[in-house]
Amino acid sequence: MGNDPIDQFTSGFDGPVLLVTTSADGERAGCLVGFATQCSIDPVRFLVCLSRTNRTFRVAAKAELLGVHVLERDDPGQLALARLFGENTGDEMDKFARCAWEEDTGGVPLLLDAPRRMVGRVLDRMELGDHTGYLVEPLHVQAKGRNAPLGLTRVLHLEAGHPA
Ligand SMILES: Cc1cc2nc3c(=O)[nH]c(=O)nc-3n(C[C@H](O)[C@H](O)[C@H](O)COP(=O)(O)O)c2cc1C
Repeated sequence: MGNDPIDQFTSGFDGPVLLVTTSADGERAGCLVGFATQCSIDPVRFLVCLSRTNRTFRVAAKAELLGVHVLERDDPGQLALARLFGENTGDEMDKFARCAWEEDTGGVPLLLDAPRRMVGRVLDRMELGDHTGYLVEPLHVQAKGRNAPLGLTRVLHLEAGHPA
């Protein structure tokens, strides 16, 4: 974080970081995402923003479905997952060879160690500066437990695998 006015404005923001996965044309991808939020109640919709430099963006551009995972805050294994997906790019490493996952019926890779996860259908894509926003409709939701989610302030020290 720098000392620009906007960095000071967002200082301490602590929304949950999500782990977003996808697949298309036999390729799998996934990355850590801080720019994500529920954006509608009825109907339920989420907005997930992917940097256009990321491999996950390139695969998601061809995908119908996204996997969205919530990680737990006070668990070193969950931080390790955040590090795996946030600090490495699938352009250079097969992240899925280093974690436990299964394939959803739609082909989306879902991480077995994430306690809360959903598969969502991409309804729309919109250019939002240097990120593309994916408007997502939840299709299947699995949620085990309600432990506090891993938030942004706990992962700000990670170095993104791709520059934004
Ligand atoms: C704290 C943190 C937040 C991040 N937030 C986003 C985000 O909102 N959207 C995004 O596309 N990438 C985000 N990233 C960057 C990607 O997770 C990272 O560049 C990843 O290595 C990209 O992997 P890929 O090239 O395999 O897709 C974030 C990284 C960190 C460490």
